[in-house]
Amino acid sequence: MNEIRDAILSDQLDAVAGLAVPESYRAVLVRKDEQDMFEGLTTKDKDPRKSLHVEEVPTPELGPGEAIVAVMASSVNYNTVWTSIFEPVSTFGFLERYGRVSELTKKHDLPYHVVGSDLAGVVLKVGPGVNKWKPGDEVVAHCLSVELEDPAGHDDTMMDPQQRIWGFETNFGGLAELALVKSNQLMPKPGHLSWEEAAAPGLVNSTAYRQLVSRNGANMKQGDTVLIWGASGGLGSYATQMALNGGAIPVCVVSSPEKAEIVRKMGAELVIDRSAEQYAFWKDENTQDVKEWQRLGKKIRELTGGEDVDIVFEHPGRETFGASVYVAKKGGTIVTCASTTGYMHQYDNRYLWMNLKKILSSHFANYKEAWEANRLIDKGLIHPTLSKVYPMEEVGQAALDVHRNAHQGKVGVLTLAPEEGLGVRNQEKREQHLEAINRFRGV
Ligand SMILES: NC(=O)c1ccc[n+]([C@@H]2O[C@H](COP(=O)([O-])OP(=O)(O)OC[C@H]3O[C@@H](n4cnc5c(N)ncnc54)[C@H](OP(=O)(O)O)[C@@H]3O)[C@@H](O)[C@H]2O)c1
Repeated sequence: MNEIRDAILSDQLDAVAGLAVPESYRAVLVRKDEQDMFEGLTTKDKDPRKSLHVEEVPTPELGPGEAIVAVMASSVNYNTVWTSIFEPVSTFGFLERYGRVSELTKKHDLPYHVVGSDLAGVVLKVGPGVNKWKPGDEVVAHCLSVELEDPAGHDDTMMDPQQRIWGFETNFGGLAELALVKSNQLMPKPGHLSWEEAAAPGLVNSTAYRQLVSRNGANMKQGDTVLIWGASGGLGSYATQMALNGGAIPVCVVSSPEKAEIVRKMGAELVIDRSAEQYAFWKDENTQDVKEWQRLGKKIRELTGGEDVDIVFEHPGRETFGASVYVAKKGGTIVTCASTTGYMHQYDNRYLWMNLKKILSSHFANYKEAWEANRLIDKGLIHPTLSKVYPMEEVGQAALDVHRNAHQGKVGVLTLAPEEGLGVRNQEKREQHLEAINRFRGV
């Protein structure tokens, strides 16, 4: 592994092809025999530091259409938080099911799950049938894993019945020194970014792109007013940039003055601090407070000069969904990709149908959408929102930060990279965007 790391660090990428793939590697994993460890605890008391381990594991066999990547850096996504607290289900069920698909997928069904759905690194070896990528290529990976044996997936690959999220519903994820991906997950690493910066946007940037911009999502157009929940968080920090780039008007919801400041620095002018305003959309566990929905609607109109929002970028779920449906404009769209605070949503359907609003679902992104989202990063039109970087040994703390909502933007993890700031190939382009690249740093 050291030889591989040294070759990459000394820019001898051509030499990488000649190096043997190590038989084992260090990886962040959860163990099947610990999947009941948090039974009886509330969600917030489940501590990822206890369930995420860094261990040496055997390197998986490389199959047709696959690639092994030397991972320099990765990032924490909320799906790793879900895996680490075994909620809403243990991810070992996903691995068992995937293992039953074919001889090739059997290897995923193991008593440990190597997690992580982002990476930046260098291709080490490719399997039969891979022509577009070769050892030595500097890459990032998106996290859509598809089999595409069924016609259903050939219009939009997210519709493949065998669609999975790599590193969440499959094994051998990106929080490790090596990762196994399908070659159609690979994309070029933006040269102006360091390894950890390049690894940060992948999952959330692609998801926000489909959810907000793509015709498979809300199909945002210039002039649209967009309510963005968690506007300085993982998804929201990219949705905010896309709204601004696309000529839309983001109304950013955050929960502290620091977060309000950071979205303002991104260029957003309309900001709601939900903590300062003390919104309480639920009176008790079963009853929502329509007055609070109205208060939010009024606040939005105050900020927009009397307009309601065309699009609500939803992901908190149960806690906010009733309000989201209420505040959308007549004919507007509520586009949802998650339910962080609970998946049994409740809303007043009268406000939906009488006002011809639409609820639209969105999930990750197809390869084309992920490619377009990565292209925006490469062009310097969207920037990573990396706030903090941890070494792999402290991944439990990194996941706890995200679990506790104590982070901003994205939290990075160094895997093979010995320190931050390495891997930049285009210094001139970097200089042009340095302020934006560092905007979330240390906040
Ligand atoms: N379907 C997909 O493909 C997909 C992809 C990515 C993520 N997700 C899911 O989307 C969710 C968010 O992911 P993320 O990466 O953006 O996470 P994140 O970095 O934790 O950001 C979420 C933001 O939501 C806000 N929030 C939290 N609790 C809230 C509440 N009760 N009411 C209103 N806002 C609240 C927080 O902002 P403030 O505290 O500042 O308001 C937080 O910054 C997770 O459940 C994740 O699993 C789904």
